[in-house]
Amino acid sequence: KRPAGAPDRKLARPVTKVGIVGAGLMASQMALLFARRLKVPVVLTDIDQARVDKGVGYVHGEIDKLLGKKRVSPDEANRLKALVSGSLDKAAFADADFVIEAVFEELSVKQQVFAEVEEHVSAECVLATNTSSLSITDMASKLAHPERVVGFHFFNPVAVMPLLEIVRAEQTDDATLATAFAVGKELKKSSVLVKDAPAFVVNRLLTRFMGEVINSVDEGTSFEVADQATDPLGLPMTPMILLQLVGSAVALHVSETMHHAFPDRFTVSSNMKKFVAAGKAAVWQWDAQGKQS
Ligand code: CAA
Repeated sequence: KRPAGAPDRKLARPVTKVGIVGAGLMASQMALLFARRLKVPVVLTDIDQARVDKGVGYVHGEIDKLLGKKRVSPDEANRLKALVSGSLDKAAFADADFVIEAVFEELSVKQQVFAEVEEHVSAECVLATNTSSLSITDMASKLAHPERVVGFHFFNPVAVMPLLEIVRAEQTDDATLATAFAVGKELKKSSVLVKDAPAFVVNRLLTRFMGEVINSVDEGTSFEVADQATDPLGLPMTPMILLQLVGSAVALHVSETMHHAFPDRFTVSSNMKKFVAAGKAAVWQWDAQGKQS
């Protein structure tokens, strides 16, 4: 059954090569998923060779894990590894039909990335963004072909979270949207069409929820108690573990975007700012049971 709001799938264009801008964790997870499900070449790019190598290395490591679990055969593992490559040059996207960016969450950075990609790809190549909170319409606004821009928002861990938020910008045309839904289907995700509104739907809910947990810490509750207090909700992960998975910098950024859009409903936690300032060493480290170590 066609998801609500999805255009006729006959409008979808084939995708025979995928480009990914950014080779961080989210981008690398996407690279593996695209290679595994679409079985097409995937090129990862980033700002320096070390980042590119790290991204490709992550993908190869995950393929080895799949091999270890016998989820893929040795031949398939080799084929998958050969499909994923890295490049410093966006010219490597020349024959791509679908390019997705997962770079730093800053509108001007993402606009710049799309402008650079546009110099190398055909006018029909879809430009997708994995932004978790920025306006897709703004991101498309400075391009020669804004009608091929679409939001394509995954959740962490990309390999296992079933939902995909597909976002239509004001400029997005039906062929682009149909292609996005077709790709979502091939990736075996449950795609939903969401409005181009701050943080779409999922992060709006999550930010409000996480914000209240962190607010209670700001107001004097211990991390441990605030974390355990969500137990009756039966969540698959406690808020503090989820915060580590998503990354406190990303979570802070989304909460700032939401506060800017809806100052009466969203707060920005002073503790959250401290976690981000403390960097990866983090104010706390939680093990799988949610205990501070
Ligand atoms: N990468 C790849 N695969 C992973 C993984 C990861 N980081 N973490 C877990 N998995 C896989 C495991 O390998 C396992 O796969 P197999 O069954 O093939 O072996 C499967 O997921 C289940 O893992 P586990 O049995 O170890 O653990 P679990 O039952 O606790 O499930 C979970 C793990 C699916 C991550 C679960 O804890 C969960 O759903 N957590 C909530 C995650 C969530 O809310 N994500 C949304 C974050 S918000 C976001 O991403 C939006 C944003 O823009 C900021």
